Parts: sequence; structure tokens; C-alpha cells
Amino acid sequence: MDRQMQVFEEVFESLVSTQEILKEDHNPVYRFDDQLIDGAIIDIGCGQTSSLLKYAASGRRLIGIDNEQSQLNKLRSRMTEVAGFTSREWELLKQNLQHDPLPKGIYAMVVLFNILHFFSLKYCERFVEKLEPHLKTGSILSICVHSVKYFANDPTNPQNNEYFKHYFSQDDLDKLFPSIKYDRLYRADIETQQCKKYQEVAALWAEKLIEYFKIADPLIKADLRQNSKDNNIQADLICVYKRR
Ligand SMILES: C[S@@+](CC[C@H](N)C(=O)[O-])C[C@H]1O[C@@H](n2cnc3c(N)ncnc32)[C@H](O)[C@@H]1O
Repeated sequence: MDRQMQVFEEVFESLVSTQEILKEDHNPVYRFDDQLIDGAIIDIGCGQTSSLLKYAASGRRLIGIDNEQSQLNKLRSRMTEVAGFTSREWELLKQNLQHDPLPKGIYAMVVLFNILHFFSLKYCERFVEKLEPHLKTGSILSICVHSVKYFANDPTNPQNNEYFKHYFSQDDLDKLFPSIKYDRLYRADIETQQCKKYQEVAALWAEKLIEYFKIADPLIKADLRQNSKDNNIQADLICVYKRR
């Protein structure tokens, strides 16, 4: 993680409580969790804001995958806060989803929230192939990706896909999870502004960046502060699929 993102994570951790994370968790998968088959709940690209928080006390096999150890450490401490105990059974694994094999076993639920847009559509296809041996009839997948309507998506800009590698259409998702293999249980095309607390995070992040990088130029400072206040509309697609 680069230093800018580290500063972001530090600010996030200092300002946002676990209760606030839970309040802002709009994953629709919870409405289907009475259908869960036997198997693990795995959150890939879990961060510290993972859906595993909701299942910390469930007794299920829980797997979180992230390539940042600091995120996994923070997630463990937040899960401990929610469950009232810590468990060696929680498999919080520092792995790179591009290069490492997935943990063995069948997955009852796969959470892929705010992660697939960091990869090309071609790579996402390969990743779904890697996932499939871990799924069986009834496995549920919940996915949130930045959509083509995301404010930063500008296909005319040659640098459009440098940070987010792909902005998704519904068709892209339905091709990754085709109806011959998956039933789509839920779909939402959402546009929303950040909540007040997350706006505070953005404002403090700008101040910390100015401090850390010793930015003295008033124009750059003003720009950073303005960007943090812009509060652009986030446009995402959220889908829940069930393996046939
Ligand atoms: C935007 S955050 C999403 C966190 C959480 N899923 C959520 O929706 O709130 C993306 C997370 O994916 C992790 N990540 C990014 N690239 C990864 C990779 N190649 N392998 C594993 N984790 C990765 C980052 O460290 C970060 O914690």
C-alpha cells in the first residue's frame, strides 16, 4: 500500500467506530443467509470493513483475504469487539488474490465487495474460474463493483483505467455469472453520496496528507481540501447470485 493509502487507513481507523461500519454496511446478502449451505463464509479483499463482522459470533468457518496485514489485524480486533471473543478459527489470510491459491474447502458465501474493479474484466473471468471448484449448488455470492456511471469513469481519458481497471455494466456481471450456472437473487444499480462520517474521513485525510508530505503551496493545499469536499456521487452495481 502506498503512503497515501496508509494515511487514509490510519484516519479511517481513528474516526470510524465498528458500530458505524456496521451501520454503513449495505450488503444485501444478509437477507439470504437463512439459505446458507454448509461451508465457509469467505470475504475476498475484506479490508477492516468486512461482512465477516456480521458473522463473527456465528461459529461458521470464516475466511478473510487481504494483501495488507494491517487491514487483517484491524479486522480481527473489530471482529473481537463484535463477538466478545477472539477465535483461532478465524482465518484472516494475507494473500494476493491474483497469485495465491484460494483456501481449500466449499464456500457457502463469497463476498466480493469493492474489489473486482481493481482488475481487468479478463482477469475477473480467470478469477471466477479459480473460484468455481469451491462452489456447489446453493453457494451464494455477493458482489459490489463501481459501475460505468461512476463519477471517475471517462472512457475518453487515456488514463481512465490506471487506478480502477474496469467499470462494470450489468451485462459484464451477468456474463461473469451466467444464468446457465447462477440464479440472480438480487440486483441494485445505486447512486449515493457518502455519509457524514465518511466525509469527515475525507476532510481529515486531506489535512494529514498536507502535514505528512509538508505541502506548502497554497494552491495544492486548496485543491486537496476542495477535492475532499467534492463528495461525488458513488455509482455501484450490487448483485447476489446463487450457484445452480
Ligand atoms: C476498497 S477496499 C474494500 C474493503 C471491503 N471489502 C469493503 O467493501 O468495505 C479493497 C481491499 O482489497 C484489498 N486488496 C487490493 N488488492 C488486493 C489483492 N490483489 N489481493 C488481496 N487483497 C487486495 C485492499 O488491501 C483493501 O483492503
